[in-house]
Amino acid sequence: MESLSFIETSMEDKIGFITLNRPKQYNALNRQMIHEIVTAAEAFDRDPNVRVILLSGNGQAFSAGADIDEMAEEGAVQMELRNQFADWDRLSLIKKPIIGAVKGYVLGGGFELALSCDLLIAGSDTRFSFPEVTLGVMPGAGGTQRLTKLVGKTKALEWILTAERIDAETALQYGIINRITEPENVLMEAREMAEKIAAQAPLAVRLIKESVHKAVDYSLYEGMQYERKNFYMLFASEDQKEGMQAFAEKRKPNFRGR
Ligand code: CAA
Repeated sequence: MESLSFIETSMEDKIGFITLNRPKQYNALNRQMIHEIVTAAEAFDRDPNVRVILLSGNGQAFSAGADIDEMAEEGAVQMELRNQFADWDRLSLIKKPIIGAVKGYVLGGGFELALSCDLLIAGSDTRFSFPEVTLGVMPGAGGTQRLTKLVGKTKALEWILTAERIDAETALQYGIINRITEPENVLMEAREMAEKIAAQAPLAVRLIKESVHKAVDYSLYEGMQYERKNFYMLFASEDQKEGMQAFAEKRKPNFRGR
């Protein structure tokens, strides 16, 4: 396991683990920490031995959001010149699936980080919220956009305007998370899901992720054309031959990501 300043990373069974490691501050995300998360995710994305990325947090909470101490004295011009959220944008360019294992507080930027994951397993104690309005600001790393696209305008407005906490059951009901489990089992469940995906053909997994994400922004027609090109493209892969041959021979396929 490699310990950077604010995160830990490791790799096992084709899964790249990124663990937020600032438990005393509920994994509040300072700029350096976001930079480390994104850099680690990009390194796993390039590593052919990694097929899925699993993001979790040490301690009781996934993350209490952006580091308020770091932002308190900031100015608008400073933020614009620094291009404050550029690192966050890089996270949406990761091609491999990212599974988030969350529990406890998932607030503000922590909620935005969770919404940047492709799949979410949540502990029954999880509380999601956008408390930015109580600080005199608003979500800035995609919260107003991602939550609205996911749950619709009505609930997104209610939750972001009131900073109300969303419990795990409600999050499941609105499709924010995939599954609920006991908080102590979150990592194990996420890992089981990661193992299932890691056993599939990596190129197919990659293009499925891309195609599903396009459905959020594209018209149905554009999305269908995009899907079709990706479908055809997979017939250029060795794994398509291997997958279909293994089916005919009644054996498990051995996918190699080519
Ligand atoms: N930034 C910086 N430090 C934080 C933090 C944050 N977001 N959240 C918690 N901490 C720190 C506290 O300052 C405290 O540090 P000290 O021990 O040094 O005093 C430590 O973590 C423990 O916190 P509390 O003593 O407050 O613990 P609690 O159990 O009473 O409350 C909490 C926990 C409800 C998470 C509370 O800390 C809290 O409300 N935190 C702020 C949550 C928030 O407003 N997040 C949104 C940030 S803005 C944002 O994310 C913008 C964006 O879109 C990018």
